[in-house]
Amino acid sequence: MALITTKEMFAKALQSDYAVGAFNVNNMEIIQGIANAAKEEQAPLILQVSAGARKYAKPAYLMKLVEAAILDTGLDIALHLDHGEDFDICKKCVDDGFTSVMIDGSKYEFTENVRVTKQVVEYAHAHGVVVEAELGKLAGVEDDVKVDARAATFTVPEEAAEFVAKTGVDSLAIAIGTSHGAYKFKGEPYLDFERLKEIHKLIPQIPLVLHGASTVLPEFVKKCNDYGGDIPGAQGVPEEMISEAAKYGICKVNIDTDLRLAMTAEVRKFIAEHPAEFDPRKYLGPARDAIQKMVQHKIRNVLNASNTL
Ligand code: G3H
Ligand code: 13P
Ligand code: ZN
Repeated sequence: MALITTKEMFAKALQSDYAVGAFNVNNMEIIQGIANAAKEEQAPLILQVSAGARKYAKPAYLMKLVEAAILDTGLDIALHLDHGEDFDICKKCVDDGFTSVMIDGSKYEFTENVRVTKQVVEYAHAHGVVVEAELGKLAGVEDDVKVDARAATFTVPEEAAEFVAKTGVDSLAIAIGTSHGAYKFKGEPYLDFERLKEIHKLIPQIPLVLHGASTVLPEFVKKCNDYGGDIPGAQGVPEEMISEAAKYGICKVNIDTDLRLAMTAEVRKFIAEHPAEFDPRKYLGPARDAIQKMVQHKIRNVLNASNTL
């Protein structure tokens, strides 16, 4: 049992049209809930850490917690840097023992994105670490632009093929209409499946990554709002769309918001219903259980990755 790269898990997922869940982790309860779920479902697992998570929990704690999850569950787990903003943070994570890093050069023009991605690929590959890059921009609904205008930021299939050839990157995050957070669509949810199919046709061997893939499950939004929250009009990517995307090369599905909502809903409920309680274990325990249940549901019914180890 060890930290592993995503190479083998993506190769299997690509072949069999399922997707691997990549879940953002920030503390012990989140890691335990997710790892327990993957164990129960016998599914491949990517735990990912953002710059914000590193700042919040400190790298050493996160690394030790992930190692503990491997020990406790007996699973192999890939540890991935989410949205690395430059070469330096990617290098740090490679040096710290991560098995996968994302260099997010999507803020740059094509040529600069290629340059910085190539630099990370060279360093990471020399150390046995795989690299995810991003091409295209994830527009948020808060940008308040129409679908046509949003589409202008989507990944161009021919550029995706050129980008992969020029950088040697192992997987590619693409923009087809998703965005981060709890407010992804104002009206009907829309993903550009024709674009996804075209990209997959041009680079069928490259595992594609879907960021902003939370569904913003209504039951958790309702529970948050019922117990004092204020999250009006939250909307995510319908689960059927995620399952569909896995048929066209999406091998890694990034989920953070659904974890946050599941956890917050349970904490709000417990605290509202038990005003005299002040033992954190009393509310973090149910929060951890809610994460496990939600992640098992994703793995089994949305990603179709149960029993694929
Ligand atoms: O893509 C962003 C992830 O949800 C991580 O969010 O930067 O607040 O940790 P964060
Ligand atoms: P969500 O905000 O939809 O959970 O997306 C998370 C993500 O893409 C992390 O990189
Ligand atoms: Zn993301």
